[in-house]
Amino acid sequence: MRIVLVGPPGAGKGTQAALLAQTLSVPHISTGDLFRANISQGTELGLKAQQFMREGQLVPDEVTIGMAKDRMDQADAEDGFLLDGFPRNLAQAEALDEILRDAELKLDAVLDLEVPEEEIVKRIAGRRMCRQDSSHIFHVEYTPSKEQGVCDTCGGELYQREDDHEETVRKRLEVYHSETEPIIDYYRSQGLVTTLSALGAVSDVTSRALSALGRAE
Ligand code: AP5
Ligand code: ZN
Repeated sequence: MRIVLVGPPGAGKGTQAALLAQTLSVPHISTGDLFRANISQGTELGLKAQQFMREGQLVPDEVTIGMAKDRMDQADAEDGFLLDGFPRNLAQAEALDEILRDAELKLDAVLDLEVPEEEIVKRIAGRRMCRQDSSHIFHVEYTPSKEQGVCDTCGGELYQREDDHEETVRKRLEVYHSETEPIIDYYRSQGLVTTLSALGAVSDVTSRALSALGRAE
């Protein structure tokens, strides 16, 4: 299956993508994770992205689209994928269409995760990420690790993201409304969108997503 996951910052895209990708046996492709990996490795691409991310702005399309395409080529789009955080504006959605058209492939579904703004702020303020594996995501209150500062799954160090501060989060939300939300209508007109509530337990959200994909457990 080829799936796009959209939703505001902190909606739970990364959390759900890790679970769904495992259940559906497709690669989880997160442009945010790819950028963060490039930044921690000090690559040229990471240097280009860092300032935009710090400010809560989108990284320019000429950097993002090439990186996403390379990752999809590596994964072999024919076997399916779960895109998390890409596309994030209309130009990226059109670029994805072109990539898929060239490969004679289509998207199967777009899942739109909906969360009220006050919950977004709580989720982001308490988020802790694992340095070893970006799919290990914790929350100080909702899903705390047993030992403070250490990942339960792999023992990696937990850290707070540089862009998870109030002012940047506000900017990221603004960018989401102005640049990313229009892609939901774009995909809705193609009959691909299911909007689902991302409130409640993580496993409940996963069940909703799987049933939207016709893969009820
Ligand atoms: P990116 O990394 O994609 O960030 P984002 O879209 O802002 O989303 P987040 O990672 O903040 O949240 P999430 O929805 O994944 O939530 P999570 O599962 O972690 O992008 C970062 C930056 O990179 C962008 O600002 C931009 O600069 C750049 N970028 C990336 N892609 C780009 C692109 N395509 N074009 C241009 N620039 C791009 O969950 C959040 C918290 O909530 C966690 O603590 C989690 O434990 C908790 N939680 C999750 N689900 C639940 C639940 N059901 N109940 C309670 N808590 C929950
Ligand atoms: Zn870990």
